[in-house]
Amino acid sequence: PQVTYIEHDGTEHRIALEAGKSVMQGAVDNAIPGIDADCGGECACATCHVYVDEAWLAQCGTPGEQEASMLSFAATAAPNSRLSCQITMSPALDGLIVRMPEAQH
Ligand code: FES
Repeated sequence: PQVTYIEHDGTEHRIALEAGKSVMQGAVDNAIPGIDADCGGECACATCHVYVDEAWLAQCGTPGEQEASMLSFAATAAPNSRLSCQITMSPALDGLIVRMPEAQH
């Protein structure tokens, strides 16, 4: 499945990820700027914050309890905010679009 990562300045990165990988891991593996992932996917840093394109929100599901609590501390959180380490790629997410917040730029 493919993901398009859009940096805050509009630069797009279209990447093919294996199913089962997190959207965060895909960004780190491909050195995409804007996703720092300081905690390595433990849902404990919120530096992998992304905005999920509205068209994909339902397919991505809802944040878990810990994720929602981390997001509540993120100054730039919006209703479509997710932590990208908590989104696992699957064929159903082929074409997913996420945008990175300015603070991680
Ligand atoms: Fe730290 Fe996602 S990588 S919360």
